[in-house]
Order: sequence, then structure tokens, then C-alpha cells
Amino acid sequence: MTAKPTAILVTGASGGFGLAFARQLEGRCDRLILTGRDEARLRAHREHLRRPDAHRIVVADLASQQGIDAVFQSVEGCTLKGLVNNAGFGLWGAFTAYSAADHAALIATDLLAPMRLTHHLLPALQHRRGFVINVSSLAGESPLSWMGSYSAAKAGLTYWSEALRIEQEGRVRVVTLAPGPSPTGFRAVSGMPEMLGGGLRTPPEAVVAAAIATLDRGGGFCVPGWRHRMLWLLQKLSPRELSVRIMHRYLRAR
Ligand SMILES: NC(=O)c1ccc[n+]([C@@H]2O[C@H](COP(=O)([O-])OP(=O)(O)OC[C@H]3O[C@@H](n4cnc5c(N)ncnc54)[C@H](OP(=O)(O)O)[C@@H]3O)[C@@H](O)[C@H]2O)c1
Repeated sequence: MTAKPTAILVTGASGGFGLAFARQLEGRCDRLILTGRDEARLRAHREHLRRPDAHRIVVADLASQQGIDAVFQSVEGCTLKGLVNNAGFGLWGAFTAYSAADHAALIATDLLAPMRLTHHLLPALQHRRGFVINVSSLAGESPLSWMGSYSAAKAGLTYWSEALRIEQEGRVRVVTLAPGPSPTGFRAVSGMPEMLGGGLRTPPEAVVAAAIATLDRGGGFCVPGWRHRMLWLLQKLSPRELSVRIMHRYLRAR
């Protein structure tokens, strides 16, 4: 009997962090399973890998049951070593500028999809002492006005991921990744204006390298880049009322 191929599943692989994860994790499995909604971009990204023909593409909207089911089916016949819950987007603007359905789709993609995928795939990952990397955000560390539902989704993701990390200690390695701004498609997709602080962006390759270094230390909470770690520390030390108002004034001026 031939052994099943080992696989790592990366959601949101048609975007900036997703491509960087695919590149940096390719050497750790026989097959990458790369998901997104934009098939043309997924195919183009696959060509940037060393063994494009080895990897599988799954076109799936993670806000839908159909999309989640398509991802479940894609891992059948593989020995799953890792899951990277990376797909996500933001909505920039006043809460009422978007429909309730838009906010629900954000929560479904950024928070519920990682929980649903992990719930289904955890037994397989436990079997191999595998890993889960949850791509959260510094936006989950203190409430962000103009991006309230995104901030809420990422706060939820971080809390759930950190609880899971401790629950799974010794069985599945869990990384909670909380990057600050990074030059990917995120800003354009979210409708965020170009803001000051461009020099504070950490490159996607460095963000992903930091996540994988944390994984190799056995898992943990990771804020890539010293400047964003300083920002995180300030978020933790400031009273909430103060940090919310400072961010509100800063962002409103853009
Ligand atoms: N870049 C930043 O500044 C930053 C900072 C902190 C955290 N993050 C987080 O990093 C993760 C990756 O984002 P990125 O920065 O690489 O941005 P990106 O270039 O816009 O990539 C986002 C990825 O998520 C996928 N996606 C979005 N909605 C989806 C849905 N409903 N179903 C399936 N896939 C969906 C996109 O695929 P399709 O377009 O093909 O659907 C794309 O592959 C996100 O979770 C984001 O919140 C980003």
C-alpha cells in the first residue's frame, strides 16, 4: 500500500501572507492545499512555488457552507500536517456604512471559518502532532473605530486561538499570529485609505518567517517586528478608554 501524501492547508493563498506561507512551508510537506476565491490568482501564485504540479488549488468562499465543505473534501486522501487559517478581510468605514450581511460575512470568514476548519481537522492534526497557525491581527488587541467588526473578529480569533493553544499543548502546536500593517492586498480590499506609517509596515515574508519560527519553538503568540511589538506593548499598558480615543482621532484624520 502506498503512503498517503502529507499535506498542509493554507487558506487565503491568493493573497500576500498566503503566498508567503506557501513558499515557506512548501518544503515541509508533499502537497500544499491552497484555497481562495480567485482561481486565476491562486493558479498564478502556485507557479511561484518550486513544485507547482504537486499542489492542489481549491476555489472556495469560506463564508459559505459550500466553501467549507469543499475545503473538507480537499484534504481527504492526505495525511494532514498543518492548517494555516489565514483568509480574511476588513471593512473600513462607519458601522452603518455596510449592511448587516456584510458584517456577518466578515465574521463568518475571519472568525467562524478558522473555528469550523480547526474543529473538523483537529483529530487528524493530533494524530501527527501537527500544527495550526491562526492569522489574527494587532487590530484584535484594542478596539479600532472605523473597523469595529474586523477588530471584533480578530479579538475573538486571538482569544479562541490562545485558549486552544493551551488546551492542545503536547498534542497540536498552535501559533496565534498578530501582525501589524504589512504591504499586501489587505488595505485595498478593505477600502482603507493610504495612511502615515508606511515605514512601519513589516514585509509579508518577515511576518510569515516569524510565525514559522514561533511554530518551531513549539507554538505561541507572535507579533512580528520589534516596532509592532512596541505598539502591542503600548496597547496592553494603556487604559482602554485612552487607546480607543487615541486611535479614533488618529484614524479619523486620515
Ligand atoms: N496585511 C496586513 O496589514 C494585515 C495585518 C494583520 C492581519 N492581517 C490578516 O492577514 C490575513 C491575510 O491577509 P493579507 O494581508 O494577505 O491580505 P490579502 O492580500 O487581501 O489576502 C487575503 C486572502 O484572504 C482570502 N479571502 C478573503 N475573503 C475570503 C472568503 N470569503 N473566502 C475565502 N477566502 C477569502 C483572499 O482570497 P480571494 O481574494 O481569492 O477570495 C486572499 O487570498 C487576513 O486574515 C488579514 O486579516 C493582515
